[in-house]
Amino acid sequence: MRIHVMTLFPQIFESYINESIMKRASDKGLIDIHLYNIRDFSNNKHKKVDDYPFGGGAGMVMTPQPIYDTYMHIIEKFNIESPKVIYLTPKGKVYKQSMAEKFSVDNDIILLCGHYEGIDQRIIDLIVTHEISIGDYVLTGGELPALILIDSISRLISGVLGQDESFEEESFKDNLLEYPHYTRPREFMGERVPKVLLSGNHKNIDQWRREQSIDITIQKRPDLMKKAALTDKDKKYIQK
Ligand code: ADE
Repeated sequence: MRIHVMTLFPQIFESYINESIMKRASDKGLIDIHLYNIRDFSNNKHKKVDDYPFGGGAGMVMTPQPIYDTYMHIIEKFNIESPKVIYLTPKGKVYKQSMAEKFSVDNDIILLCGHYEGIDQRIIDLIVTHEISIGDYVLTGGELPALILIDSISRLISGVLGQDESFEEESFKDNLLEYPHYTRPREFMGERVPKVLLSGNHKNIDQWRREQSIDITIQKRPDLMKKAALTDKDKKYIQK
C-alpha cells in the first residue's frame, strides 16, 4: 500500500516512519510512504503557500495552487485513477477503527495536512474525498492526525504485525473493548493473576475473556454497547 502525504512539514513524519514497526513494514515493502512538501510546488517566487482570508478575519489561509499542483504530481506520477484524498480537519467525521479497516485495503491513499486557519475551500471541493477529524479538539495542524491514520492503517496490513492474529482480538473488535492481560509473575504486590488464566482450559479462558470484554465495555464505554456485535450467549451473560 502506498500512503502519500501532502504537508508543509515532511520532517515531522520522517523519524516516526523510520522507527520500529513502521520501518520494518517499509523495509518489507508492505507500506510505501511518500512525503511531499507542498511548499516545493508553490509557483510564487518566495515559495509562499498562504495568504490573508478574503472577507477579513484572523489567521492565514493555505492557497490552492501549491496544494493542487502537489496533488496533480502525485496522481500523474502513480497513475492513480480514483484517488482517495483525506483532509485532516476538526470539521471532519470522527475517526474510528472501522474507517482504518476500510482504508487498509486501498492501494493508494493521499493525506492532506492543513495548517494556519485552514485551506482554501475550493481545494476541498475539487480534490478532497474524505474529511476526517481525530477528535473534538483543535490542533495546530494535520500532521499528528495524519500520523495517527498512518499508524492505525499500517498495522492492519497483513504481515506488518508479528502475527496476523495480533489484531484478531483487540479493542473495537465487535465494538467491545479488549479483555485485561497478565504476564509473570503470578503474584505482584499481593495481587494474583485470575485463576482461570492458569488453568490451561482454553474454552474457559475464552469465555472469561469475552465476559471481561463485555464488563469493561459496559463500565468504561457504555456508548459502544449499542453497536456491539453480541452473540446469544453474550446476551444471556449480560442478563445474569
Ligand atoms: N487539524 C486540527 N485539529 C484536528 C483534528 N482534531 N483532527 C484532524 N485534523 C485536525
